[in-house]
Amino acid sequence: MSGILCFRNIGQLVQADASTQPGIRLRKNCAMLVQDGRVHKILKDSEIKSSKSYNRVIDCQGRAMVPGFVDCHTHLIYAGERKDEMVERMRGTTYLEILESGGGILNTVKATNRATEKELFDTAHKRMKRMMALGTTAFEIKSGYGLNLKCEMKMLTVGKKLRTTLKVPVTLTYLGAHTVPTGEDREEYLEEIIENLPRFRELADGVDIFCEKDVFTAADLRRLFLQAKLLGFDLRAHVEEFSHQGGCTEAAKLGALSCDHLEHATPMDIHAMHVAGTTAVLMPGVTLFLGGEKHPLVHSMLDAGVTLALATDCNPGSSPTYNMQTVLTLASSMYRLTPEQALAAGTYGSAKALGAEKDFGGLLPKQHADFNLLKTNDYLDLFYYFGENFVDATFIAGKKFKAPKDPATA
Ligand code: NIG
Ligand code: FE
Repeated sequence: MSGILCFRNIGQLVQADASTQPGIRLRKNCAMLVQDGRVHKILKDSEIKSSKSYNRVIDCQGRAMVPGFVDCHTHLIYAGERKDEMVERMRGTTYLEILESGGGILNTVKATNRATEKELFDTAHKRMKRMMALGTTAFEIKSGYGLNLKCEMKMLTVGKKLRTTLKVPVTLTYLGAHTVPTGEDREEYLEEIIENLPRFRELADGVDIFCEKDVFTAADLRRLFLQAKLLGFDLRAHVEEFSHQGGCTEAAKLGALSCDHLEHATPMDIHAMHVAGTTAVLMPGVTLFLGGEKHPLVHSMLDAGVTLALATDCNPGSSPTYNMQTVLTLASSMYRLTPEQALAAGTYGSAKALGAEKDFGGLLPKQHADFNLLKTNDYLDLFYYFGENFVDATFIAGKKFKAPKDPATA
């Protein structure tokens, strides 16, 4: 059988989908056949034929294999760092106070406007490769550090180039409504974004907004989403993060694919997400990094049947991490999710947040053969020995990703 790769001697194979509770199917001592970059078949290791029957046989040495992580909420295209703000926060100033005083997101906006397209591409390319080396095989990337037509387009153009260069699934989101640019009127700026939406149709798959006290209101979200929906954009929203503004229910009612953050979401918001089939994207790395104490009502979400997703929120202000393994372990211990629930959220759930759960995230037959071979024979080690990198090799469409040697940051 030519063209078929056989990954044999897989000690533990983890698959993820919605048909099992809590979303994980565990198989032992099996083999996986991959054809044309997709999972062709899973069989018992004892069932594989002679090696001549396959194009290549890869011995997994009894180790565990998990689906590639799907990072469904990132801001990984940006210039500059904000370490000084981290120190300022440790001294007591809050994240929103820094933003109100013209820093925070607005600092990254200045640096990103100054950066050339090539500079943005080079830094983001390096970041993505580091994320892939840590096991991420699909990404969502937002703009939102331009806050003007030219720079927002520059960011999304970089996103498109990253997608074609790295050959991984990348969903692009236009986040012009990340915050109000310095000196501009909120309503006028929002109007400008809405008027210019058709110009982003070619560059972005979705539209997002940061709905928060002193940033954008739930009514702003509604105005933006009504127009974005008409134009066929997917809708996703930063809602109920530091305070309750009503954006979550509004977004869900308008059919948002995902509502993200949700630390202040109420049972009514959860009900709205359930009714609409909206996925809840949780980002415990932000809570950890900002020293927050409030957690989303994760178990009410689970009880209501809302799909959970996990993401890094990779950005220079509130979550400068590249590591989905960290996010999974944080979600498990901070939210009391079982490892199965956390792993399902960071794979199947995150793919669903991107509307792509049929195509990847589960390592199921016909899906992309995107997976991680771990350094261990037990995927629970990811959660138990937290903080270590357990990914030995990442495969995208069945092909081994060549991890960069250079350990440089940023
Ligand atoms: O998702 N909440 C708003 N936006 C980002 C942070 C962006 C930044 O601080 O640069 C977030 O946390
Ligand atoms: Fe974000």
